[in-house]
Amino acid sequence: MAITFKDVAFTYQAGTPFATPALHDVNFTIPEHSFTAVIGHTGSGKSTMVQQLDGLALPTSGSIQIGDTTMDAETDKKTLNQIRRHIGMVFQFPEAQLFEQSVIADVMFGPMNYGMSKSDAEDAAKKALQLVGMPESSYDKSPFDLSGGQMRRVAIAGVIAMEPEILVLDEPTAGLDPEGQQELMTLLRPCKRNTTSLLF
Ligand SMILES: Nc1ncnc2c1ncn2[C@@H]1O[C@H](COP(=O)(O)OP(=O)(O)O)[C@@H](O)[C@H]1O
Ligand SMILES: [Mg+2]
Repeated sequence: MAITFKDVAFTYQAGTPFATPALHDVNFTIPEHSFTAVIGHTGSGKSTMVQQLDGLALPTSGSIQIGDTTMDAETDKKTLNQIRRHIGMVFQFPEAQLFEQSVIADVMFGPMNYGMSKSDAEDAAKKALQLVGMPESSYDKSPFDLSGGQMRRVAIAGVIAMEPEILVLDEPTAGLDPEGQQELMTLLRPCKRNTTSLLF
């Protein structure tokens, strides 16, 4: 799925005395099955763009095309839900959302929630955990007994296991030590094969 931002502008609390413009004149196209990194200073609007991709914040003006669907200020919930099925979002510090008893159960949660059978979810989870470099010996461990970098990878595997057509990661290496950052970037690269990956 390709992504096109067309004249996108977004203002937080638009029309109030607290209005904060965050994006304006944003225009770009990201081709299908590509791996794209967006860089910018803190406060430049990266996380705001991430939220626009998932429809968490609709553009104040302009439009965003994802595959055949276009989102703008008027888009309804039903359309947003359809779009969201194709997008895997990894928000900042995703490990904060780990909650299951075991690594494998945590990664299976998302796919099962989307209606995958238990055995399909287990297959998808194992594939995703392998992709992020988690050894099989970790599957039955509590996610809370892992290192910070490993927790991060398990959380990312939970999104990859849902097999999204588009994978969006907001500062996936933030807070990791330089070695952990390098390792995670190397692991994320193979994700580009059949997914449109966007890294902020
Ligand atoms: N919830 C919010 N309410 C008001 N302003 C916000 C909010 N979130 C972000 N902003 C502002 O929007 C701009 C872009 O922020 P953000 O998208 O978080 O940038 P980045 O992720 O690149 O650090 C900044 O000026 C920031 O202060
Ligand atoms: Mg941010």
